[in-house]
Amino acid sequence: MVWLRTPGLVALSGLLTARSTLGVVFGPIGTDRPAPAGGSIANDQPPNSFFQGSAPPFPTNDWWAGYGAGNGDAVVGGPFPYQSSLTATAIQFGISTQRGFDGTSIHQNPQTDWAAGFVEHDGNIQNHKALSWDSQSVTVQYFTGTSTLTSYLVPGSPYLTFNYANSTPRFTSGQGAITSFAGTALAAGASATVSATKFQVINGAGTYIIYSLNGAISLTATNAGVITAGATFNGVLRLVKLNAPGHQALLDQYSANYPRGVATDYDFNGNVGTLRFTWSVTGNAANLLMLTWPHHRLKLQSPNYPPTTSLSYLTTKGYMYPAIGNVWNLRYDLPTITWNAPRTPDASCRASLIAGLEYEIAHLPAVTAPGDFYFFGGNVGAVSRLALIAEHVGRNDLVTPVVAYLKASFSFFFNSTSAVLPAYETAWGGIINKAGYNSVWVDFGNGYYNDHHFHYGYFLAASAVIAKYDAQWLNTYRSTLNWFLRDIVNPSRNDPYFAVTRCRDWFAGHSWASGIANGAGPRDQESIGEAVNGYYGALLWAEVTGNANIKNYARLLIATEQHAAQVYWHLYPGANGNDRDQPYPEQGLRNLVTIGNVMDYQAGAWLFWGAQKVQIAAIQILPVTPINEYMYDATWAQAVYDYTQGELNDPTFGDEWKSVIYLAYSQSNPAVAAQRSTSLTTWGTGNTFSNQLYYISTRANAANVCTSAPSNPIGNFYIQSTTNNAYVATSSLPNLIASTTDQTQAAQFNFAFAPNAGTIQAISTNQFVTADDSGNFALSAARATASAWEVFIVRQKQGAATGVYSILAASNKQYIGLGAGNSLINNVATEAASTGFRLVAV
Ligand SMILES: *[C@@H]1O[C@H](CO)[C@@H](O)[C@H](O)[C@H]1NC(C)=O
Repeated sequence: MVWLRTPGLVALSGLLTARSTLGVVFGPIGTDRPAPAGGSIANDQPPNSFFQGSAPPFPTNDWWAGYGAGNGDAVVGGPFPYQSSLTATAIQFGISTQRGFDGTSIHQNPQTDWAAGFVEHDGNIQNHKALSWDSQSVTVQYFTGTSTLTSYLVPGSPYLTFNYANSTPRFTSGQGAITSFAGTALAAGASATVSATKFQVINGAGTYIIYSLNGAISLTATNAGVITAGATFNGVLRLVKLNAPGHQALLDQYSANYPRGVATDYDFNGNVGTLRFTWSVTGNAANLLMLTWPHHRLKLQSPNYPPTTSLSYLTTKGYMYPAIGNVWNLRYDLPTITWNAPRTPDASCRASLIAGLEYEIAHLPAVTAPGDFYFFGGNVGAVSRLALIAEHVGRNDLVTPVVAYLKASFSFFFNSTSAVLPAYETAWGGIINKAGYNSVWVDFGNGYYNDHHFHYGYFLAASAVIAKYDAQWLNTYRSTLNWFLRDIVNPSRNDPYFAVTRCRDWFAGHSWASGIANGAGPRDQESIGEAVNGYYGALLWAEVTGNANIKNYARLLIATEQHAAQVYWHLYPGANGNDRDQPYPEQGLRNLVTIGNVMDYQAGAWLFWGAQKVQIAAIQILPVTPINEYMYDATWAQAVYDYTQGELNDPTFGDEWKSVIYLAYSQSNPAVAAQRSTSLTTWGTGNTFSNQLYYISTRANAANVCTSAPSNPIGNFYIQSTTNNAYVATSSLPNLIASTTDQTQAAQFNFAFAPNAGTIQAISTNQFVTADDSGNFALSAARATASAWEVFIVRQKQGAATGVYSILAASNKQYIGLGAGNSLINNVATEAASTGFRLVAV
């Protein structure tokens, strides 16, 4: 392990400015060696020689993960404003000059402007390594014999810094010929040698400035594209992209002070958290020039900003602008919500909510061995909410079966005979789905550290609920669940088994879902709702285990992730594209309302897996838990609702996506959200009817939102078509055919409650009526248990006589009509065209 930069060392070096107070870095959650039921296993994509001399745990999701994974040659997004990659001999870097908007995404594809190396390097790929790393930066060293080049790759520094020792600096153009060097135009075949402390060099990328911080250096530039020092050098050279001549003054003024790393700490004062970055500086720390992103500027306390005209770089997160000083204090209001919403469900919703809870708890899916982590997690997460909601409405009797269900579900993870098991991965250090140690196709790459905060957030939230009601279970499994907690929110370098806060990029202000698969290519995060939930799970687990520090840490992680959602994922068509803190100047992008995937080199309204507007928006919203009322601001929620309106009104789009859009919209208009939610018949893996109604009914302005909630008729009925006045006949079962006018020949059906709808069960056979989602087949009483296709919405038919009903199949959201031979079939698009049915009491 490398321990070169700790907050303590920074403090000792006296670099803190007078006004700052030293924050804390929490100690480890645990230091015990993880021993999950799946045992230990080494990943088949281990770290490369970049980590030579260091021992795991290694960072897996950091912006620079590509240096240490695979061949180590991935192009990585950073240190921003630069993108970079490591070759066997040099550090390549550049700033994308091509920003494009293709109608879906903005992208700034990486480019190599220059490569920094030294003449003596022998080209051995093993001869560079990570000298150290910290919460944001990595120090890379190239070496051969006694010659070294050390570079402090620190996000936010406008300059790249290259510290040479006994080595001959060499910079190689990645953008064609050098056309000008130190004021001398270079024709083809020409070269120029200049001794100075500052040089301007122009190649196809534009202008860079080279500063020497250790006296004049003699550099020879060839038009062919190479700059080489005349002799070995001991000292620091800095390169910086000069975007405009007017930027030179500021860059000159602050070029002498360079960051070597950064300490990230925090302090908590009630419900305010201050996130602090303190860069360790060589030179004058107070005169450190760094660059800010929009999310920094919205939170930075007492900033010292030069004019935005004095320096700027356009990146995928918008314009970076300068700030002076080596300490940043970023102030966040922290969430105060824990288990449940801060308001009681509106009285108008209470009866429906309790009926829904009773139904959903009685119809919990069968406990089965997990087939994976992700969908298992989504399910237990959603089920666990039912217990909390039941407690909130005073139905503690309903808590017990939920807890029993959750315990039975989790028990598979504690039993080494299970097929899907957590294991401790030893090459990098973390808990993985063991089955995925060699396959990116298992659990979306969990075995390669993709999506851990998504997956483990669900585990932690659900297990916190078990523990809330079962102290013995908590005692038994505390350390086991702490391994998942440590995997995603370990705050400390003193945990010998886990990387620090694996997914969080503190400078970027949010998390990355990407791990080390396939050489750790571009970083992305596609589901910021699930990222927030990851830290919410941590918060609940910390709450139930009484870990006040980790609870505060989780609150800070939630506040920062939710803020990033609002700045970089939520798009506001009405925003001013020229606003200083608007990351996306392109109106066309902002009209798309929601970013689907924020990557390091692009951001756009698309997903890896779906192209519907409701999908792109929903995956940023879900899972909907009480903590998210801070995240869905009313302006954005309204914009999402308006933007997706066409799909919301189209029955071919899935209820599972619509449901969470209505939930976000309830922040703006709970009455309409409640009304629209009455049409839902499925809620997806991670949501339920009860959670839907609970969230809406606990909004601040939810008074009377449920007064008109309609429901199916309940009881035993004959079904009579008003088209031919015929009843569904007993003789036709299992098919439903309206073929007899003799009531004694008619089949009896039990109509029972299901949330927003109901089931229809043939009494003589005990079989539930099912509707195939193709709409090509007659309804059939052919299912022993009722699930999604056995649910129907039965309502007074508009415009028909009282007591005449339309029937809508949940499976395909089509109405029932009479088909061939008077069979009942779910293939009618509109209620008006559908058959009216009388329900004649038995
Ligand atoms: C583990 O699972 C096996 C197979 O289902 C079962 O027979 C055994 O009882 C389980 N062990 C425990 C401790 O639950």
